[in-house]
Amino acid sequence: MTTTSAEQGYFTEDQSAEVVISRNANAENARLAEVMAILTRHLHAAVKEIEPTEAEWFRAIQFLTETGQTCSDWRQEYILLSDILGVSMLVDAINNRKPAGASESTVLGPFHVADAPFMDMGADICLDGKGEAMEVRGTVRDLAGAPVGGVVLDVWQANDEGFYDVQQKGLQPDFNLRGRFRTGADGTYRFWAVRPRFYPIPDDGPVGKLLRQLGRHPFRPAHLHYILAADGFETLTTHIFDPDDPYIHSDAVFGVKESLMATFRKIASAQELEAAGRDDWFWRVEHDFVLEPARAGA
Ligand code: BEZ
Ligand code: FE
Repeated sequence: MTTTSAEQGYFTEDQSAEVVISRNANAENARLAEVMAILTRHLHAAVKEIEPTEAEWFRAIQFLTETGQTCSDWRQEYILLSDILGVSMLVDAINNRKPAGASESTVLGPFHVADAPFMDMGADICLDGKGEAMEVRGTVRDLAGAPVGGVVLDVWQANDEGFYDVQQKGLQPDFNLRGRFRTGADGTYRFWAVRPRFYPIPDDGPVGKLLRQLGRHPFRPAHLHYILAADGFETLTTHIFDPDDPYIHSDAVFGVKESLMATFRKIASAQELEAAGRDDWFWRVEHDFVLEPARAGA
């Protein structure tokens, strides 16, 4: 009896990956066939190195089952798994290789809301008056150093207790600590917010349990999220971080980069308060962004 290219012999331990990969020879989608071949090769190599007991394999299946069962419209446990494995940051790195001088990207995270209100420059995105006041400001430039006007900055952050508005519906006002701002011709941006705090990624599911079993904490160091979008430039999804945060060297999702550290300065002298037209001390955070031009074909 003759065999086709998809019928390359019976399964053996030695040839396990090759037998499975050859079965996909008739795949219509060449990219799918390539991805499945690579995955099959690495997965079989891992199983051969681990030599799991059947009980261990079943435990792995249970973990993946619980991960799927934890997903809902507002909870994506598989993305969290990808985050704590460093895969989200790796996919981000591969897709956002930046030219020298351009601002670096980092993870989007699950708490972005697409339709945050547009606000005037200088507005306060803190709607409940809680937390330590913080002025955030900087300039958006291109690679040549020229200011970029017409940039929409979409910003969001957790409050001073480490919660996003969407995690505390009814407790925080809707759209608390979120807003969109458009730069003018001078490329500058400025808004008021509150100093954010570190917080745990959602850790009441199987991914949180895995972190605990691995002796890892679930915390992300204090940060502000930004998406910067402008015609003619690549959209930049990034954060700025508080360099003094206790978790700055151990972000649960590996999102920290040296270049994303902001400067937090306490403004308290009578002279500076007068210049700012404020009575009480506040934090001033300054961070500039550099956008790369839109890539060809993007
Ligand atoms: C965040 O920064 O909002 C985030 C990122 C990854 C996982 C969980 C939260
Ligand atoms: Fe966040």
